[in-house]
Amino acid sequence: MLLTGLHGFITGAGTGIGRAIALEMVREGADLAITDLDLASARKVAGEAQALRTDARVWAGQLDVRDAVNVTARVAEAANYLGSLELAVNNAGVSSMKRVVDLDEADWDFNMDINAKGIFLCCQAEVRYFLRQGQPGTMRSIVNTASMAGKKAAALLAHYSASKFAVIGFTQALALETAADGIRVNAVCPGYVRTSMQEREVIWEANLRGMTPDEVRQDYLRAIPLGRLEEPEDVARVVVFLLSDRAAYMTGQAINVTGGSIMF
Ligand SMILES: NC(=O)c1ccc[n+]([C@@H]2O[C@H](COP(=O)([O-])OP(=O)(O)OC[C@H]3O[C@@H](n4cnc5c(N)ncnc54)[C@H](O)[C@@H]3O)[C@@H](O)[C@H]2O)c1
Repeated sequence: MLLTGLHGFITGAGTGIGRAIALEMVREGADLAITDLDLASARKVAGEAQALRTDARVWAGQLDVRDAVNVTARVAEAANYLGSLELAVNNAGVSSMKRVVDLDEADWDFNMDINAKGIFLCCQAEVRYFLRQGQPGTMRSIVNTASMAGKKAAALLAHYSASKFAVIGFTQALALETAADGIRVNAVCPGYVRTSMQEREVIWEANLRGMTPDEVRQDYLRAIPLGRLEEPEDVARVVVFLLSDRAAYMTGQAINVTGGSIMF
């Protein structure tokens, strides 16, 4: 197991990619604080994780990544409950779809506040904790969920894309600042992942482009060289690798998990 003896904190883990990462982390030996805006879903995933490994320490908490006070308190509570923290996955994210000419400030702020500012607030609280509590020489590792849209913009997603480009830039800068303290910071860039976010996007895109949802899904498939939509577990396995010592010489990277949809 890749994460035995390590303690983690994850955001947006009540469903989708975050849920899959949480379960994979616990399966690979980590104790874990599982957070989400929706406490009931975080608790449900904590129950699933506990069933996977009965000796794991698993905690569930409510967290809105836009709220600095909430973020700092949750990181401290999680560390208290688990005994320490060495791993963090900042995964919470949202999307919406509109042409720029129709975009209002509320759409922009919603995407930027959760996707970009949320990553800043969570990373800041986690790194502050690592610097205060960490033993020199201990492995500490953060993974931020960016997106393929953080490297290659897509029409109808300008605001989302801008927020995910921000995640990658922020990840690189933080990696530079924390490398000397032995804290690695990387990002993962998923492609077309089958989650509730994708279901919402397929409907929006179908309406905006005058297509059926099935035609939109066929478009996605044509853009994926490996020829199938991505599963949350495809992302989770790469995140666990990045968190683990197997990736000890990697920091500041934004790793594509897209079935080959982008190659840079
Ligand atoms: N699904 C995809 O195709 C895809 C592709 C690339 C990147 N991503 C990214 O992966 C991450 C997870 O996406 P998903 O597809 O699993 O989405 P999802 O909508 O299925 O799940 C997102 C989770 O984040 C939580 N959340 C929303 N707002 C929050 C907030 N303010 N604070 C804390 N938690 C909050 C939700 O409650 C939900 O549990 C996001 O960052 C997303 O941008 C998704």
